[in-house]
Amino acid sequence: MQEPLIVILAAGLGTRMKSRRAKVLHEAGGLPLIEHVVRTALELAPPARVFVVTGCQAEQVERAVGGYGVGFIHQAEQKGTGHALLVARERLAPLGGPVLVLYGDCPLLSSATLRRLLERQRASGRAAVVLTARLEDPAGYGRVLRDEQGLLEAIVEEKAATPEQRAVREINSGIYCFHPERLWPLLDRLRPDNPAREYYLTDLVALLRRDGCPVEPLLLEDPHEVLGVNTRVELAEADRACRRRKARELMLAGVTIRLPETVVIDAAVSVGADTVIEPFVQILGRSAIGEECFIGAGAILRDARLGDRVQVRPYTLIEEARLEDASRAGPFARLRPASRLEAGAQVGNFVELKNTRLGAGSKANHLAYLGDADIGAGTNIGAGTITCNYDGERKHPTRIGDRVFVGSNATLVAPLELASDCYIGAGSVITEPVPSEALALGRARQVLKEGWVPKRRAPKP
Ligand code: UD1
Ligand code: CA
Repeated sequence: MQEPLIVILAAGLGTRMKSRRAKVLHEAGGLPLIEHVVRTALELAPPARVFVVTGCQAEQVERAVGGYGVGFIHQAEQKGTGHALLVARERLAPLGGPVLVLYGDCPLLSSATLRRLLERQRASGRAAVVLTARLEDPAGYGRVLRDEQGLLEAIVEEKAATPEQRAVREINSGIYCFHPERLWPLLDRLRPDNPAREYYLTDLVALLRRDGCPVEPLLLEDPHEVLGVNTRVELAEADRACRRRKARELMLAGVTIRLPETVVIDAAVSVGADTVIEPFVQILGRSAIGEECFIGAGAILRDARLGDRVQVRPYTLIEEARLEDASRAGPFARLRPASRLEAGAQVGNFVELKNTRLGAGSKANHLAYLGDADIGAGTNIGAGTITCNYDGERKHPTRIGDRVFVGSNATLVAPLELASDCYIGAGSVITEPVPSEALALGRARQVLKEGWVPKRRAPKP
């Protein structure tokens, strides 16, 4: 089969979104709408045969998908979907091959469906095949009008439709496969004779019919795939569908998800088998999670990397941090960027780490702030320990060796170095380096006044 040429229309602002941001940049399933469509297109054709038509906020749209190596065509004025193809013609017509036209606001489309569409066009030899669906509520879509043989008479846009035509529930998905020699010359015959004064791509259907080459519809069983996002309500529907699809995919690959309808997992996330995800968890960005992990209720992970058998207890927030095998965080812990728990390390409730390494088997189990610290293996950080890493102007590091015992409520004033095997007394303020095997104390000595209470309570004369 000849490789398809894929054109993705994404030049419109999308006024129905009521947004300053171009519609195709809004996200569903953690990716901009346009990125979903580009990724699907690349399952069928190499980047050199995939083109995105940009216009509104072209620079931002090009930045969003530029990394995929696809081509861009600029439609300076958005005079309709047919006009977008007209602008692209000069560059694309010489490339040959069946032309797949996709809309940038249709993120749920699968490559399997596109393959069927291509195959149908090839097998039938038709000038065009269009993907259609039957919807309970077809409002907002172009309606598909068929003849007695089931071929297309026309597609009428809702704005121009008569009440009878509006009652038709079969809609145009906006996804077409054209025979290139039919498509390109025909564009010159489009006219903006509609209420919107736009060049409608959909008018090609009636033109082809007039030329005796009727367009064939390919009716999709699952109408979800062709959901076109025009409003924020549809954006939320697309997002929900992406989440559902991702959760399903993970469950089929061996991940347990309790109440999957409550979890939010972005498209680019990976999760290993036998990991258990509790309700109301969010796993975002490029997070990668190993096998047999546990992610407790309400945890939020963004760009986190977890090894195997890691436990994230409920209500823990992890951003750009790494948790190695069998480490544990939470409940109610916060791991900020560039933090790392080495194998078997533990942080407990109300512990915050920033740019800090906690070595293998080390523990900070309660109420601590560890920032810009490098902590060795087998060390215990007592409850309430604070690294004072900021002097009001600059940040300073704290280095703590292996097997150190830091007593509760220690205040470690950075820059500071605690050598391996030293002890820090509870409640100390430590400002000087502590050598190996020493005990450091930095607190007021206790005063004891025997019999002080009755004296205080005695009635004053
Ligand atoms: C379009 C179809 C409609 C179909 C629906 C499916 C037309 C005339 N109508 O309507 O039959 O049911 O999609 O979702 O095609 N775009 C450009 N340049 C332009 C205009 C639009 O690139 O000049 C892009 C938009 O950015 C968008 C896509 O084309 O990604 C579709 O445009 P939109 O305005 O959303 O079309 P609909 O009114 O939804
Ligand atoms: Ca649309």
